[in-house]
Amino acid sequence: MSLVAKFCVFVAALGVLTLVTASVHGEVVPPGTDAEIRERLQPFGRLCRTGDECGGAGTARAGSGTMTGEQVYNQFCFACHSTGVSESPLFGDAQAWAPRIAKGVDVLWESTTNGLGLMPMRGTCMNCSDDELREAMDYVTGQAQ
Ligand code: HEC
Repeated sequence: MSLVAKFCVFVAALGVLTLVTASVHGEVVPPGTDAEIRERLQPFGRLCRTGDECGGAGTARAGSGTMTGEQVYNQFCFACHSTGVSESPLFGDAQAWAPRIAKGVDVLWESTTNGLGLMPMRGTCMNCSDDELREAMDYVTGQAQ
């Protein structure tokens, strides 16, 4: 075969290949109904805020939507108040908490919501409702009396 002939065969083969590939691609349809396909294409993790009806697996706040004081403590306050980092009054340390508790709940609530020194505002739980935060504060201070 001459070089030109070989080249022609090559081009023809390429053309057939392209046609085959194109037609196969045209026939490939993902399995399932449109609704099922749409559901599969949903983003994996969705932002779920306090009070939202997010539900479902994969959302951190699935279920009732509200956290108990103990749950908030374990998730947010624990990092500092169980280690004493940055001079945080230790959980259950009556001596450390006595002078704070003596200031009264209104002052403690003020510190909890707005922060105090190295204590960050809302104890870093920005998604907590006031009720959840208040329960966490009561939980922390209640263990030290
Ligand atoms: C990043 C560390 C950190 C986290 C997280 C943290 N705290 Fe604190 N907290 C502190 C420190 C430090 C103090 C002492 C602040 C001071 O007296 O200057 C403190 C003090 C307090 C006080 C006493 C305030 C006062 O007026 O004397 C309360 C109440 C309190 N924290 C509650 C909480 C609760 C509830 C959470 C979780 C929602 C939380 N903290 C999370 C570090 C933290």
